[in-house]
Order: sequence, then C-alpha cells, then structure tokens
Amino acid sequence: MLSFDEEAGMDVSGRTAVITGGASGIGLATATRLASAGAKLVLADIEQGPLDQAVKQLQGTGAEVLGVLCDVAKLGDVERLRDATVSEFGAAHVVFNNAGVGGGPTIGSPIEMWRWVSSVNLDGVVYGVHVFLPLLMEQDEGHIVNTASLAGLGGVPGMGPYCATKFAVVGLSESLFYDLALRGSKVGVSVLCPGFVRTRIGESGRNMPNDLKGIVPSREPGPLEGAAAAAVAAGIDPSVVAEHVAGAIERSEFWILPHHHVAVRTTEQRLAWMQGGTPATINLAKAARGG
Ligand SMILES: NC(=O)c1ccc[n+]([C@@H]2O[C@H](COP(=O)([O-])OP(=O)(O)OC[C@H]3O[C@@H](n4cnc5c(N)ncnc54)[C@H](O)[C@@H]3O)[C@@H](O)[C@H]2O)c1
Repeated sequence: MLSFDEEAGMDVSGRTAVITGGASGIGLATATRLASAGAKLVLADIEQGPLDQAVKQLQGTGAEVLGVLCDVAKLGDVERLRDATVSEFGAAHVVFNNAGVGGGPTIGSPIEMWRWVSSVNLDGVVYGVHVFLPLLMEQDEGHIVNTASLAGLGGVPGMGPYCATKFAVVGLSESLFYDLALRGSKVGVSVLCPGFVRTRIGESGRNMPNDLKGIVPSREPGPLEGAAAAAVAAGIDPSVVAEHVAGAIERSEFWILPHHHVAVRTTEQRLAWMQGGTPATINLAKAARGG
C-alpha cells in the first residue's frame, strides 16, 4: 500500500509567483499577500487597463512586479508568459492558475458558451500546468495552485459549464498530486475551492469573445442568477482567500477550503446521496455567509 505525505512548504520570500487573473479579485488579493511576504510577482490578465493599475498599485508597495497581457485560453500566450517570467526574474516558483469566468446554465446555453467557459477555466489551467510544470520539476522546487470552486465539489443548479470545468480542475489537481508524490518530487500542488467571494466574477461577460456576445441574448437575470449575484456580493473578502492560498503554499497543503465546513458538508451530502439518500438542498444565501 502506498501512502503520501504532503511535502514541506515553501518560503515565498525572494521567489517568483506567476498569477493568472491577477488584475482583479482573488488573483490580485493573493498577489498583494505574496508581495507582502517578499515574493516577486508576475501578473497575467486579459484586461490591459486593470492589469496596468494592479501592477502600479503593487509597485507602490515596493514589490517587484511584471504585468503580462495574456489570454490563458491560448497556449501561445501562456508560453509567452513563461518566457517573459524567465527573462525578467530567471525562474518561476509559484504558479497560480486562477483566471476564470462564470457562464450560463446547461439548459439553453449556446455551444459557444461551453467552449468559452471551458477554454478559460479548464484549458487555461491545463496550459498553465503543461507550460510551467517542467520548469518547476527541473529545479525540483515550486508550487502550483489551481483555482476550482465549491462548484467543483458538488453540482450547483444553473451553472453546468462552470461546474464541469471546476470538477475537472479538482480531478487534474488530485491526479497531479499523486504523480508528483510517486516521483518523490519537491514540487507541491494545491486546489483552491472557495464558496462565494466578493469579486467581479458576476461580470465575467466583460471578457466574453465578441462572437459569443453576439449570440447570447441580453435579458434580465432569472431568480437563480439574481440569488448567485447577491451571494457573491455577500461573499467573503478576497483577502481572506489570499491568506488561505499563502498558507497552503507555505505549508504545502493540497486542499484550500476557505469555506471549510460548507465543503465538508457538500461532500458528506453527496456521499449520503450516493448511498441511497436524497439530493442536498441548496441555499445560496446561506452558503454566501459561509453557512
Ligand atoms: N468569486 C467567487 O465567488 C468565486 C468562487 C469560487 C471560485 N472562484 C474562482 O476564482 C477565480 C478568480 O475569479 P474572481 O472571483 O477573482 O473573479 P474576477 O472577475 O474578479 O477576476 C478574474 C480575473 O480573471 C481575468 N480573466 C478572465 N478571463 C481571462 C483570460 N481568458 N485570460 C486571462 N485572464 C482572464 C479577468 O480579467 C479578471 O481579472 C476564478 O477561477 C473563479 O472561477 C470565484
């Protein structure tokens, strides 16, 4: 029988952290937290204006920061991100594959919606792992954090494409954990599964490709979308999530569960359902409060 310990963690001081979706929300909060611990930062984002602002804000604190315009859905962009990182700082140590977008429901979404959500939330993480992991393994030092969600631990109504990508990110991260452990690698991996966090995730449509914008009919949000938006607005502050992410890197812990008891309850309810019980009841407002 094989058993696995989580590796000793990493002191990020003087190390380089690459963060996708680094111009806003969880990415920017984590950049701020890691910079305060002495890390050098590479912020990658698809939005030039907020990216420039975020770089300026962090440089104002004395941090060494590079901003790279990057669409994580494009392999070539992620390869250029790696090259820019190595050319500026010589190495990458922390890779936070965090850029992500919300999407529509399974019922009624055009196939282009599936493709967009999947290209950012899943391909973006795959490319980040594929492009950066060889560097980390070569130096036998580093830590990858992949952003999933509580929606990657249990199905949520109205979010089929999003749930599908987040379950996939949990699966690929767990698989990678075992791959690295079996090789005795010192490279660590974590998966971040937060509940609702007060960010701009509800405005993801701002980054939708133009051809998709032309297809998705503009309409008033339904009751489920309204509840999800209210839950995000009432969610925890991104700085709380950033503290959890930094702690997991420093201690090399796989699961990052800022809403820990919701994650555990969701998993227990799924297990009970698998064993012949009933599906879980869903209360978005309560979940937002961490209940
Ligand atoms: N906010 C929540 O309640 C919540 C809960 C669970 C998981 N998450 C996840 O957290 C991650 C970060 O989201 P957030 O909540 O901080 O939202 P956010 O919208 O504030 O930040 C997301 C960032 O990703 C960038 N981005 C979008 N598409 C991109 C692309 N193709 N390439 C590069 N950058 C791109 C955006 O410009 C933005 O800066 C996402 O993966 C999201 O799914 C969020």
